[in-house]
Amino acid sequence: MENSEILQSIQRLSESAPDARWLMSETVALLRRARSRYHWVGIYLIENNDLVLGPFVGKPTPHTRIPLNQGICGAAASSGRALIVDDVNADPRYLACSLETRSEIVVPIVHNGQVLGEIDIDSDLPAAFSAQDLALLEEVALILAEKLSIRGVDDRKAL
Ligand code: SME
Repeated sequence: MENSEILQSIQRLSESAPDARWLMSETVALLRRARSRYHWVGIYLIENNDLVLGPFVGKPTPHTRIPLNQGICGAAASSGRALIVDDVNADPRYLACSLETRSEIVVPIVHNGQVLGEIDIDSDLPAAFSAQDLALLEEVALILAEKLSIRGVDDRKAL
């Protein structure tokens, strides 16, 4: 599937989504199906200065709540900038989720300058993420930000 097809599908889902949580669940499932190297796909949402795990596909992770000053996830959310880590074992910030994971991409979900959460994807392949993945996920994050921002605070709760 081309990036453009994935984005069109997620945009359509967004238009029919009953709520942000449903859209997030459908989005992580679609990304997992569309890209075989995306082995774990999840969304963390910011709640009281922590990142709290929302919808995800892949193996359960011990990191269901990550302080903003920890992990690659915390670094991306606190800076508001996307991170691509080609070799997670060489990055001292890395919080291990699965022993098989070799690389990771984290893309913040930002609305009006406020970080609402992030898309986090792990791959069992080294250096699995390129500028193409980044471009795709930045667009996906914009669609999610739009949906999350028009919902009440309660809808943003991850769990
Ligand atoms: N690896 C992340 C933690 C989340 S798990 O990958 C699902 C990190 O270093 O922040």
